[in-house]
Amino acid sequence: MQRFQRHLTTVWGQWSNFTDTIWRPFLKSSAKSPAVLFVFLFFLFVGAFVSTRLLNTANLAGPTIAKISEKSRQRIGIPLNCSAYSPTRTCPANYPTTYNKQDDLDRPLLPTCPDYFRWIYEDLRPWAYTGISRDMVERAKRTANFRLVIVNGKAYVETFQKAFQTRDVFTLWGILQLLRKYPGRVPDLELMFDCVDWPVVLSKAYSGPDATTPPPLFRYCGDDSTLDIVFPDWSFWGWPETNIKPWEALLKELEEGNKKSKWVEREAYAYWKGNPVVAATRQDLLKCNVSDKQDWNARLYAQDWLKESKEGYKQSDLANQCIHRYKIYIEGSAWSVSEKYILACDSVTLIVKPHYYDFFTRGLVPMQHYWPIKDDDKCRSIKFAVDWGNSHKKKAKSIGKAASRFIQDDLKMEYVYDYMFHLLNEYAKLLKFKPSIPEKAVEFCSESMACTAEGIGKKFMMESMVKGPADSSPCTMPPSYNPSSLYSLIQKKTSLIEQVEMWQNKYWENQNKQP
Ligand SMILES: *[C@@H]1O[C@H](CO)[C@@H](O)[C@H](O)[C@H]1NC(C)=O
Ligand SMILES: *[C@@H]1O[C@H](CO)[C@@H](O)[C@H](O)[C@H]1NC(C)=O
Repeated sequence: MQRFQRHLTTVWGQWSNFTDTIWRPFLKSSAKSPAVLFVFLFFLFVGAFVSTRLLNTANLAGPTIAKISEKSRQRIGIPLNCSAYSPTRTCPANYPTTYNKQDDLDRPLLPTCPDYFRWIYEDLRPWAYTGISRDMVERAKRTANFRLVIVNGKAYVETFQKAFQTRDVFTLWGILQLLRKYPGRVPDLELMFDCVDWPVVLSKAYSGPDATTPPPLFRYCGDDSTLDIVFPDWSFWGWPETNIKPWEALLKELEEGNKKSKWVEREAYAYWKGNPVVAATRQDLLKCNVSDKQDWNARLYAQDWLKESKEGYKQSDLANQCIHRYKIYIEGSAWSVSEKYILACDSVTLIVKPHYYDFFTRGLVPMQHYWPIKDDDKCRSIKFAVDWGNSHKKKAKSIGKAASRFIQDDLKMEYVYDYMFHLLNEYAKLLKFKPSIPEKAVEFCSESMACTAEGIGKKFMMESMVKGPADSSPCTMPPSYNPSSLYSLIQKKTSLIEQVEMWQNKYWENQNKQP
């Protein structure tokens, strides 16, 4: 428990209602200027005219109306009915379990999934030729928090060990929402899930002539020496203990937060706030803070975690953290859920060389989405990055923009679900046994979780609940990398980082020449 409490990373709270900021300027200006008011009324009038026309035409064309109403029917959600669930505590049997294949034929132009989906094939490669046997799954039980079984679109869970805080709860909630979104499409499967931070399936233990096939184990992050399968973390559905709300709503707020100030008008320094106690590398970072003797262009703050947890994390307001031109991301005890919040801000993210990856970070390209910072030379690296950015403002600004676009477009909630969908699909294809409901497993459904939840946990579940079956199919999987394209991708990233290091060396040589 202690070890977990130490590693809680940077946390943020909610911030005030942003709708206010959207409407206020408009109302102000329209009150001041009759011209704006006139334009507004004019568009209202045109809008009314156009929609009347459309309705008239639709009346004449019967099939159009049928199509429209069929579509809107699909969008009507299927609400939770706790009064039906609570007396008997049985999961409802009336949720759809099939989908209409015709819908796909009607919409042949499905978008291709973002490139980072290609890593799904890489994560499953250890089993590509052997497949996955029941014995392999059982071997993954050693550290797992729970076993998840999906049979006929329903989820069954066998809990071995409660996870820290509500990690397991919100991970399972996310999987149930996937089942609500794509009924009849998630195949039967059985898997082991470990909610602890660090990957444990060491690849060196499964290589060599007499090597056995590794156990397939799902968790939130991996690194270069392990074979754990990465899966989106719980925070996408909310993190009640730190008051971080579900991703879909937060993502909109983050976008609004970017509009609060122009990049050039922001503080021309690199900002970081977090809990330094969790990792030696973070304490090392604090040495770069400004003092009366030095200025490495860094403004670093230690978060008073206990104090803020008592105050509901109001001090950790996300929007207020987007007022510097540069923001630093540094890992804690493993990967940190804070990375997506930092990248979502359109300031330039300075990433201190990471050791871990999660499911989407392998899609990031240095110099395109972030500026790489040397782990063993942090202060000089940050000083150079900020100086470079301040003298190449256009380029720097575009790096910040590209990262926030990546987060807004490629990491929107639909794609988080699609990633889960494709990962589970590809995984299920490898199973060599027919999944069956284990004796000790309990059926989980959105009702069994949300109807019995309380407080902020319940609030986050209701906010992140999938309203009903999706009216579009998951994105199309891109092809897998072949050895040479994977090699050249890794090569490209490495050489971009080396280039920055070369510039940095030159910069410091020149600085040292000056008296
Ligand atoms: C919820 O379930 C109860 C009992 O089955 C039923 O009477 C009620 O109409 C349902 N409510 C909704 C909104 O479906
Ligand atoms: C870093 O320096 C600033 C400015 O002097 C100070 O307010 C802040 O507390 C320092 N951070 C740490 C972690 O000491």
